[in-house]
Amino acid sequence: MSDTLHNDAHGETVDEGKRDFIYIATGAVAAAGVASLGWPLVAQMGKAADTLAAGSVEIDVSKIAEGQQLKVLWRGKPVFVRHRTAKEITEAENTDAAACPDPQMDNERLIPDTTGKLRPEYLVMIGVCTHFGCIPVGEAGDFDGWYCPCHGSHYDTSGRIRKGPAPKNMEIPEYQYISENVIKVG
Ligand code: FES
Repeated sequence: MSDTLHNDAHGETVDEGKRDFIYIATGAVAAAGVASLGWPLVAQMGKAADTLAAGSVEIDVSKIAEGQQLKVLWRGKPVFVRHRTAKEITEAENTDAAACPDPQMDNERLIPDTTGKLRPEYLVMIGVCTHFGCIPVGEAGDFDGWYCPCHGSHYDTSGRIRKGPAPKNMEIPEYQYISENVIKVG
C-alpha cells in the first residue's frame, strides 16, 4: 500500500497509508485535530492549563489498532505510540539483547501499568534517531521496525538500534499509566 502524505487543516503531516499522524500537544489544537480526523485518541482535552504548561499529554492507547502507530508532538519532539503485533513482540523478545549495539531487553523498554503488569503490545518512545535527530520511518528497515533514511540506521520492533551509524536505541520518554488504558507522557 502506498502512503499518502498531506497537510491537514493545522499544517500537520498526515500519513494515511500507515494511518498515523501527529497531534500538537496543546488542548485546543489537539481537540480540533481529533474532531477533524474523527479519531479520538488524545484524551487530554479539557486539561487544566497548568498540566498543559507542564508539557504532559494523555493518550488512550486502547484506541490505537494493532499494527497502528500514533505520533504525538511532546515538548517539541515526536513520540511514537505503537500497538505492536504479536509478530513484532515476538521478534523484539527473541532478540539477543547482548548482541545489540546498545544492549537492552525489550521488557526494559516498557513501563508497567497500574496493576504492575507489562503491556508489551504498547511501545512508547521518542521518535528521534539517535544519530543526528531525523525522524525514522515506521515499518521499515532490515529489522521490521523503523528506518532512518538520513544516514541509514535500522531500528528493530523494540526501537533498538541494530545497524547503521546511530549509537543508541530510541529513547523511552518519561510516561506512566494513569488508568487501565490511558498513559500520561511527561
Ligand atoms: S540521523 Fe538517523 S542515521 Fe543519521
